[in-house]
Amino acid sequence: MKQEEISKRRTFGIISHPDAGKTTLTEKLLLFGGAIQTAGAVKSNKFKKAATSDFMEIEKQRGISVATSVMGFDYDGYKINILDTPGHKDFAEDTYRTLTAVDSVILVIDCVKGVEEQTRKLMEVCRMRHTPVILFVNKMDREGQEPYQLLEEVERELSIHTCPLSWPIGIGESFKGVYNRFEKQLDLFRPNKTKIAEDVVAINDLNSPELDKHIGEAAAGKLRDDVELIAGIYEPFDKQLYSEGYLAPVFFGSAINNFGVKELLDTFVRIAPSPLPRHTDKREITPAENDFSGFIFKIHANLDPKHRDRIAFCRIVSGKFERNKFYYHTRLDKKFRFSSPVGFMANEKSIVEDAWPGDVIGLYDTGNFKIGDTLTEGEKLSFQGIPSFSPEIFKELVNKDPFKSKQLEKGISQLTDEGVAQLFIRANDNVKIIGTVGELQFEVIQFRLLHEYGASCAFTPLEYFKACWVTSDDKKLLDKFLLHESRYITYDKHNHPVYMAKSEWYLKITSEANPGIEFHSTSEFKTEQEKLHGAK
Ligand code: G4P
Repeated sequence: MKQEEISKRRTFGIISHPDAGKTTLTEKLLLFGGAIQTAGAVKSNKFKKAATSDFMEIEKQRGISVATSVMGFDYDGYKINILDTPGHKDFAEDTYRTLTAVDSVILVIDCVKGVEEQTRKLMEVCRMRHTPVILFVNKMDREGQEPYQLLEEVERELSIHTCPLSWPIGIGESFKGVYNRFEKQLDLFRPNKTKIAEDVVAINDLNSPELDKHIGEAAAGKLRDDVELIAGIYEPFDKQLYSEGYLAPVFFGSAINNFGVKELLDTFVRIAPSPLPRHTDKREITPAENDFSGFIFKIHANLDPKHRDRIAFCRIVSGKFERNKFYYHTRLDKKFRFSSPVGFMANEKSIVEDAWPGDVIGLYDTGNFKIGDTLTEGEKLSFQGIPSFSPEIFKELVNKDPFKSKQLEKGISQLTDEGVAQLFIRANDNVKIIGTVGELQFEVIQFRLLHEYGASCAFTPLEYFKACWVTSDDKKLLDKFLLHESRYITYDKHNHPVYMAKSEWYLKITSEANPGIEFHSTSEFKTEQEKLHGAK
């Protein structure tokens, strides 16, 4: 039973630069999965509201999705969990963390715009974790770049090999559909926003005049040439290389027109990995193990502002989770029982009795969880790979109401536990520094501190370029460095020393001057790749 449950699960995220079509594609996938009934008829912005959680008051006010929601649906015998990621770049850190809880991703690229800034950043995170990637080139109904040019850009800018499993026939006005090289079939494009049926024709021999009949002589001739050419240019599909994150299968389509989506989904369920093992500080845990284990990758606050309730999102790694059973919170060394765990099917939350590896459940929390916490059946270990990344914007936290300093302390501690921002305390003057990926978080913090904790604060911008976690094999050397650079040393929430680099140049000079010290761009330092030291 357990193995069956594990092998049918596919837990993944859809990532893209905003506006490439992530929401539209999500909608179409849910439509194919029967999780929603209408497409196109639902305006995408309305859908955005319905499909993503609106747990936070602030989110409703601003009309931006601050939330990362989970959407589960069944398709062709598979249980699919889509972990949605906020599109707004200021919430990129939420997205990075969500990527720790998926087993693969679908990357959506707009064929007109190609590789964009967020695409690059998100792929960096995927590469670090060797996450398998399928590429969906969207908006083929618009006049975009030539597919060869586009894939070359992807390979060059994202450092990943590509393998087109389908190939487009024309583009924009002249887009006629795609040829699926492996199924040996033509998928003919008929713009349609509401229907999900596809117009598919089997073409066993590309030289057959059948092809000319369907797409015209000129397009047929070009397709024959293209298919021959691409077999020579691109790597053949190799599932192993895909699973290791080196090779991305590519599909072309138009999400808004439901085109190419079924093809993508059918291949996705076949090749995408079922729940993968995860590393802990002690050993690797495989999904098939009997005992339950899982980790918290996201915390949503204030389902009900009056009660300061939170919901912690737990990705199940192994075993079977059961409602009302006691589980061990390894950081707090304490057992907890969850009487109303929620599961996510389509855009609905409901109480679940049990859940399996690959599933995400929501646990009501009164302040016991931090991002990265581990639950087990008693074994003391903690999952790795949920690091903090260096923030990009740093500001000093200034208390504007001295009578409320306790509230401010508590508020900032809880908000940083949730991962809204990172807190660094400067070594030589105890100044509290808040680091975020985007400006918007400062507004979120200010708003929430005032409304939830009654504390008022202001922020003073600081000229830091990057936070680098520092380590050394030589403790004496590290202590000397920390003392010598104390003006630039802060401590994170876990009391790890962090060097605050004023600029890229300063970082380079300082790292060159201190060969025994290692500078890391994330709070977990394992792979050589992640080390900044000498990497410039
Ligand atoms: P995002 O979640 O990645 O930010 O993108 P989203 O799906 O919201 O899509 C961004 C815009 O691109 C939307 O238009 C959407 O309709 C459009 N779009 C998505 N897929 C395709 C496609 O295959 N072809 C074309 N031509 N457009 C596509 P919008 O005007 O911003 O929103 P709306 O008014 O359509 O809701």
